[in-house]
Amino acid sequence: MAVLHVLYSTSTGHTEYVVDTLIAALGAAAPRLTIEKQCAEAAQATDLLRGDALLLASGTWNTGGTEGQLHPRMSALLKDRAQDCDLQKKPCAVIALGDERYYYTARAMEHLMQFVTQHGGQVAESLVIVNEPYGQEEKVNKWAAKLLAKVPALVS
Ligand SMILES: Cc1cc2nc3c(=O)[nH]c(=O)nc-3n(C[C@H](O)[C@H](O)[C@H](O)COP(=O)(O)O)c2cc1C
Repeated sequence: MAVLHVLYSTSTGHTEYVVDTLIAALGAAAPRLTIEKQCAEAAQATDLLRGDALLLASGTWNTGGTEGQLHPRMSALLKDRAQDCDLQKKPCAVIALGDERYYYTARAMEHLMQFVTQHGGQVAESLVIVNEPYGQEEKVNKWAAKLLAKVPALVS
């Protein structure tokens, strides 16, 4: 049975809402898929290697005093604790959130993509959610279908 490991961080609940919407859509479309959900602050580098595929989800924050960064707790995981992680060609999906009122809108995406590619993972699909996620469920649901089509390991 295939396993998707989901790592996310959130302050307002927006990212968790997107992740939960996605998990519901994946669960409906692929009932045999096991989905593990873990918050970044509880994760260590080895957790990135769990499952047949990895999903990273983060909002964009002013971590370290500069806008356009990862959420602080995702940043601490990816840039500190998992800085030497080798993803061993694992299929990865990435979700970034942001707000159009900021100049570097949803730039967490760049950091997530960079992390995956620089650590030997393969980016299968990416999703950007700008502004509040409430009312954007259909976008997430459609993306769930794309993700399943792109990562055959998840439906095997
Ligand atoms: C202090 C602060 C800094 C932020 N910086 C950015 C930013 O640089 N770029 C952006 O697109 N959104 C920025 N945002 C908006 C958040 O990314 C957005 O509200 C997101 O949905 C928050 O989700 P989360 O709480 O799950 O992380 C910022 C929000 C706050 C409160």
